[in-house]
Amino acid sequence: MSDEVPEGEQSPARPHRVIGTPLPVPSSVDVAERESDSAATGREKMPADPADPVSAKRAERIVAACFIVAFIAGIGFIAAYVGLEVGPLDAVLRSNLALGLSLSVALTALGLGSLLWVRRVMPNVETAEQRHPMRSPSKDREAFQEYFAEATETSQFVKRPLLRRTLMLATLPLAAIPIVVLRDLGPLPGTSLRYTVWKRGTRAVVYGTNRPLTPAEFNTPGSMITVIPEGYEDDQDALAKAGVILIKFAPGELHIPTNYNGGTLVSTMNWTVDNIVAYSKICTHVGCPVALYEQTTHHILCPCHQSTFDAANGANVIFGPAARALPQLPLTLNSQGQLVAASDFTQPVGPSFWERG
Ligand code: FES
Repeated sequence: MSDEVPEGEQSPARPHRVIGTPLPVPSSVDVAERESDSAATGREKMPADPADPVSAKRAERIVAACFIVAFIAGIGFIAAYVGLEVGPLDAVLRSNLALGLSLSVALTALGLGSLLWVRRVMPNVETAEQRHPMRSPSKDREAFQEYFAEATETSQFVKRPLLRRTLMLATLPLAAIPIVVLRDLGPLPGTSLRYTVWKRGTRAVVYGTNRPLTPAEFNTPGSMITVIPEGYEDDQDALAKAGVILIKFAPGELHIPTNYNGGTLVSTMNWTVDNIVAYSKICTHVGCPVALYEQTTHHILCPCHQSTFDAANGANVIFGPAARALPQLPLTLNSQGQLVAASDFTQPVGPSFWERG
C-alpha cells in the first residue's frame, strides 16, 4: 500500500512561524469559515481593531513610554545594587532608598503600561465563554486554538511591534534581577572570618559615647562595659565581629586566664591591665551578643540559649551549648595611659564551626 498522496490533494505546507511574528492575514474563506463557526458556537466574534485607531495610536505611544521608563528603572535598580556602597549605616539607607525607588518605578510603569494597553489600545469588548465539565470535545479544542489566534490579533501584540518590543525590553531587567541578586551569596569569606579589625595600638572606645578609656575611669570592681575599636563606630560589618566586653575585677579575684595562642594553650595574665580583662562579646555558640554579667559569680550569660562563661577563669564555658571559651583580646596601655589592643584576637571569634573549616 502506497503512502503517496494523490496529486492535487496535498495540504499546503504550513509556514514556519516564530513567536512574536505576525500571523498570516486570514483569507476571506477563513473569515467566512470563522464566522460560520461563531454562529454555530453562539460566541460573538471579537473585533480585531479598536473602534478609534487614532486614539489607540496615541495610547500606544504612552504605553511604549511606560515600558521604556520601566526598562530604565530596572537598569537603575541593577546599577544601584552593583554600584552603591553598603558599609556604613547611612550608605545602607541610601542603597535601600535607591533600590526601593527604582524597583517601585519599574513595576509601576510596567503595570501602568499594561493597564493602558488593555484599556486604550485593545478594542473595548466583553466576551463570555461557556464552560464544560472535564475534557473539551475536539471541536471545542480546535475552536479554542482559533479563538487564541483571534485574541492574539485583538490584543495588538502581533500588529504593533513597538509595543511588543518595548514590553520585552521592559521585562528584561526585571527578569535579570533574580540572577543579579545571587551576588549576595558571595564572595566566599576566605580567611576573613578568622580576623577582626583590632590590631596593635587600636584604642578601645566606649560603645555609644565613642570616648577612649583609662583604667582610672573604669575602676569599680564588678563593672562591665562594652567597647569597640576606634575608627569603626559606624562600620556594622566590622562591629559584627569586633564587639568586646571589659570586666574589672578586684585584686585577687581574677584567676590566671588561659587562651589559645597559635594553637597552644598559654597563660594570658599579661593580656590584662590593672585587673581589667577583655573578652569577645560574640557568643561562641551561634553568635548572639553576650551582654548579661553577674557580679558576684563573675558569670557572663548569653541570653539566646543560656550558655554561661566564667569571666574569672578565661571565660571558660560552665553551662550551655557553647563549645569553647570567649576569645580574649590582649590589652595594653598607650602613651596616654588609655586602654588599647596589644594585637587582634589570637583565635576566631564567634561560632566555633569556623575552627573546623
Ligand atoms: S548563641 Fe549564645 S548560647 Fe546560643
